[in-house]
Amino acid sequence: MKIVSYSIRDDEMPALKEWQAQHPDVEVQIEHELLTPESAAKAQGADGVVVYQQLPYDRATLQALHDAGINKMSLRNVGTDNIDMAAAKELGFQITNVSVYSPNAIAEHAAWLMGRLLRREPEYTAKINRHDLRWAPEIGREMRMQTVGVIGTGHIGRVLIDILKGFGAKIVCYDVFKNPELEKEGVYVDNLADLYQQADIVTVHVPSLKENIHMINDDSIAQMKDGVIIINVARGDLVDTDALIRGLDSGKVRAAGLDVYEKEVGVFNEDWEGKAFPDQRLENLLNRKNVIITPHTAFYTETAVKNMVQISHNCNVQLIKGEKADNLVKLD
Ligand code: COI
Repeated sequence: MKIVSYSIRDDEMPALKEWQAQHPDVEVQIEHELLTPESAAKAQGADGVVVYQQLPYDRATLQALHDAGINKMSLRNVGTDNIDMAAAKELGFQITNVSVYSPNAIAEHAAWLMGRLLRREPEYTAKINRHDLRWAPEIGREMRMQTVGVIGTGHIGRVLIDILKGFGAKIVCYDVFKNPELEKEGVYVDNLADLYQQADIVTVHVPSLKENIHMINDDSIAQMKDGVIIINVARGDLVDTDALIRGLDSGKVRAAGLDVYEKEVGVFNEDWEGKAFPDQRLENLLNRKNVIITPHTAFYTETAVKNMVQISHNCNVQLIKGEKADNLVKLD
C-alpha cells in the first residue's frame, strides 16, 4: 500500500516518522509541495493521498488526482470549506478529515486571547517595551466578573466552557445542537439575541456554513453590550471585518482577539518583514492596541500536530482497505 503525503512541514516529520515505524507495511512518499493540478501527477501509482493546505482543492486539482488514479484523500485538518464538493462527488472521491485533533489547543488559545485582552496585555507590552513601567491607566478586569457568550458548543466550545468555569466566569451559550450535559446546567439561551444581551465576551466556535457567514455583523454587534470583547478562533468569514472595525472605531467593541481573518489565505503563515504588507484592513487591525491578531496558530501545538498527522494517515489506510473510515466527510 502506498500513500503520498503532500505539503509535509518539518514540524510534522517526527509524528510522521513515528507513524511510519508503526506501519512498516505502508510506503509513504513524502512531498513538501502543495497539491496542485501539476503536482497531482506525483501520486500516480499510489493508493491514496494525505493533504493539508489552505489553497482550494478545486475541480482542476481533483480532476488531476482522479486522472492519476486517486480518489481517496485524507485531510490533516478539520476544515473542508476549501473543497469543491460537487467536483469531489462527481469524481467519486472519498474524503476524510481530522474532526477532533485537540480541542484544547483551540479552546486554550481562545481563553488566552480573552485573558490577554482583559489584562490589557498589548497596551502594557507596548509601554514596557519603551521602558514605561507605570501601572495606570491600563486597569484590568477579572475573568470571574465576566459573562462569556459561547456560540457553538461542539468539542472546542465545550472545552472552552470548562476552562472558563475554572476561572469562575459565568457562561451563557447557544447552539442549534444542544449538549445534554450543558442543557442540564441550564446555560443555554434560546436565541443569539439573548446571548448578545448578556455577554461581556462573545466567542464563536461554529463552522463556516452558509448560514454562519458574517454572523458577527453590524446588526449583531449593535445587539451586544457596550464594550463587548469579540473572539474568533474558528473561521475568518464568521466575522464581517468591516463591521468589526466600525465597532472598534465607535468603542462599542472594546477589544477583539482574532486567530482567523476573512482574507487570510496567502497572508497568514508568510513572512512580510521588509516587504509591502498586502492587506490594509488587516494592517488597520494589527495597529490597534486593543486587538490581538494571531496568524491561525490556535491549532499549532505539538499534541495537535501529532494527532493531525497520525489520525489522517490512519484514515487514509482505512479508506484504502475499504474499511468504514473514521471522519468520513459528507460530500455536499
Ligand atoms: C483546521 O483544522 O481546519 C484549522 O483551521 C487548522 C489549520 C490551519 C491546520
